[in-house]
Amino acid sequence: HDNSNIVTSLQFYNNKSISKHRKKHIQSADIDAAVKLLLKLKVDYKQMTGQDYKAGCPPSENSVVPDNGPTADGADDEDTVNPWSVSTTNAKGVDYDKLIVRFGSSKVDKELVDRIERVSGQKPHRFLRRGIFFSHRDMHQVLDAYEKHKSFYLYTGRGPSSEAMHVGHLIPFIFTKWLQDVFDIPLVIQLTDDEKYLWKDLTLEDCHRFAVENAKDIIACGFDINKTFIFSDLDYMGSLPEFYRNVVKIQKHVTFNQVKGIFGFTDSDCIGKISFPAIQAAPSFSNSFPQIFGGRHDIQCLIPCAIDQDPYFRMTRDVAPRIGYPKPALLHSTFFPALQGAQTKMSASDANSSIFLTDTPKQIKNKVNKHAFSGGKDTVEEHRKYGGNADVDVSFMYLTFFLEDDEKLEKIRQDYTSGALLTGELKKLLIETLQPMIAGHQERRKQVTDDTVKQFMTPRPLNFNI
Ligand code: TRP
Repeated sequence: HDNSNIVTSLQFYNNKSISKHRKKHIQSADIDAAVKLLLKLKVDYKQMTGQDYKAGCPPSENSVVPDNGPTADGADDEDTVNPWSVSTTNAKGVDYDKLIVRFGSSKVDKELVDRIERVSGQKPHRFLRRGIFFSHRDMHQVLDAYEKHKSFYLYTGRGPSSEAMHVGHLIPFIFTKWLQDVFDIPLVIQLTDDEKYLWKDLTLEDCHRFAVENAKDIIACGFDINKTFIFSDLDYMGSLPEFYRNVVKIQKHVTFNQVKGIFGFTDSDCIGKISFPAIQAAPSFSNSFPQIFGGRHDIQCLIPCAIDQDPYFRMTRDVAPRIGYPKPALLHSTFFPALQGAQTKMSASDANSSIFLTDTPKQIKNKVNKHAFSGGKDTVEEHRKYGGNADVDVSFMYLTFFLEDDEKLEKIRQDYTSGALLTGELKKLLIETLQPMIAGHQERRKQVTDDTVKQFMTPRPLNFNI
């Protein structure tokens, strides 16, 4: 905006030697324009930050930008990333580097991965080595504190929208389990049955039942019962006053405009949705769990999650200092691609796009062979001659998530790219990786009794030193 004319006019208007008549003239024209411009700038400000403009208060570092629309330069208008939808037109998947810029987070670079290795004394998880947890907020601060013997706790969650969990749902849990082991820290897992009731056409009873069922799959990932608390919002919100007190504090410090800006809520969304973000924010503060942390509110929280959940935590980080709590740190993962291709993530509501945790070895084999999008050529001759494209090949992508051996993975990539490895052979390697992994999960899930679930979900002290 070119305001120089208006500024000059305002200065002119302030000059006392100008006649009243002349001032009146200026007032009617230029001042009107100036006021209009200021009002428009205020509206723009509110739209971009979700907050009312206040003179002398620049937006905070984490002040939110609407994440479900294109940025001003229109550069990434093909990628949609928000808690309810993920899509791109690019077969390689979402452009994650652009997302880092758009969301204002930081890249998990080699320096950070090396540092995690040094501080934890463990080889970094393959999700870190391969850029699957690719973005973060404040990880260096967490590690600085940890090195000074100031520990932290983990918080992650799941929205129980059905009984059917797929392999993509395991990504944050597999990684969180690794973090719990290498840092030896407590973990809270939120099951947002309330959220799914508000967003989907489901009964409260169903959502709660899915929460308990999903807890079994989560427990089967191997979490330490002495260091892990899993809770259903529907149960816990009502039973622990401290949790609800934090929800209310957050609700008081976030405006409708802010959540509209962050989540795109409209006037016709029910008020439950509008206030829900406060409930997902509350576990980021340690005094929401008095049975674990006593009355302490100052224990640092680290949240591993898929990047689509970031809007919730941008909001959380924005309110934290205003209610006297530390901001949670974050580690963000990429999405787990659908079988049909990386343009969308795997979705439980589309059976053909997903490998479920209940699938039999035969179902796994059929789904991979039939539906996994291939970067190979149409005929064997062409494939041998020109090679395949691993960057868009879903079977190869899945192997980067689940095949532990770096050298083997690199050899597969080279052979596929050169044409030495055929699509059918690549799929076979994936099938052979998935079948034992899922059978193992089913075996561990079978061991999880109702009593075990009850223990994990009972508010109680956990075993840790912070
Ligand atoms: N909203 C998430 C979902 O629908 C569930 C969730 C709650 C969550 N708290 C979280 C996910 C913390 C990651 C981290 O799946």
